[in-house]
Amino acid sequence: MTYSEALTQAFDTIRHTIPKMGTDRPAIGRSDLTYERCHDKHWVDGFWSGQLWLAYAETQDPVFFEAARAQRPYFIARLDRPETHDHDLGFLYTLTLVADHVLTGDEEACRGALRAADALAGRYNPRGRFIPAWNWQSDSDPNRGRIIIDCMENLNLLFWAAAQTGQTCYRDIAVAHAHTTIDTIVRADASTYHSFVCDPDTGEPLYGQTVQGFADDSCWSRGQAWGIHGFTMAYRYAGNERFRLTAIRLADYALARLPDDGVPYWDFLLTDDAPRYRDSSAGAIMAAGLFLLADTLNDEAKAAHYRASARAILDGLIAGYTTFDHPQAEGLLTQGASHVAHGYCDNMLPYGDYFFIEALLRAQGRTAFFW
Ligand code: GLY
Repeated sequence: MTYSEALTQAFDTIRHTIPKMGTDRPAIGRSDLTYERCHDKHWVDGFWSGQLWLAYAETQDPVFFEAARAQRPYFIARLDRPETHDHDLGFLYTLTLVADHVLTGDEEACRGALRAADALAGRYNPRGRFIPAWNWQSDSDPNRGRIIIDCMENLNLLFWAAAQTGQTCYRDIAVAHAHTTIDTIVRADASTYHSFVCDPDTGEPLYGQTVQGFADDSCWSRGQAWGIHGFTMAYRYAGNERFRLTAIRLADYALARLPDDGVPYWDFLLTDDAPRYRDSSAGAIMAAGLFLLADTLNDEAKAAHYRASARAILDGLIAGYTTFDHPQAEGLLTQGASHVAHGYCDNMLPYGDYFFIEALLRAQGRTAFFW
């Protein structure tokens, strides 16, 4: 199957899921390839809209536009529910209101996305120079000082806000957070911790810890993939060579540890007795990130290597992990590992689906996205 045929299949799946999804959003796949719907404060809420906006940008089919716009009231209303806000405001609003503004110029979408950027910037801890990930219940909760690798992707909302308003404070926060992530989460061998806890009052780095990976000292593959894509985006926005070098180091570490079909296991450092689930979402994010990284390089041989590696991952996903033979499927990729320790290990995932489409579009040479 060509990438163009895979995209057509993917858009057909989205088209037939639209009436079933209505104004709901997919959370996690069931074994019958339908999706559980999101509760009203889920971090994955925006990935369905992201797929709809990408499908609309590519096809101009109004069915995608109308479905994406039908999601908008939820995201506008959520701006007034700060108890549902955390570092994932970037994922939530880049793929919804920023996407809407980028494609349509809509001013209400722009105002909403800037409110989200303000809320994200408001979380910044200037002593530690980081944006804490999740929320906390008490002053002694480690989440007050917790950074996670995933947050690299949320910085895109701040970079967008800086470009939109001309106010450098958004960008300064994003750049500072990216440096702190390198200083704490990225290890000397270019593997990554999932999370790192700093003293929230002094900024002192304390300890690395996993939440969704195999072990504190292992390397969660989706985290590594967030880092490849996220540091490349930070380089593209900020032009800081340290960010690009970090993306390259993370990419080389991951590529040396992929199985034959190119689709990563859920962690790169599994012991022999550990469960060996694949994570198709990590593969999709990594493929998109490798195409993106290749586009930043002047070294043509290295760029060609990353593009070939991204295509190998995509080929593996298309050959072994798509739902295309199942007309009832509401998603695109099987075998995503959301959180293995909690038993979520073999599911369709909306972020896997979103990045599969982004990677397929990048494989076709598209460079215009919402981040
Ligand atoms: N950002 C959470 C995850 O990747 O599961």
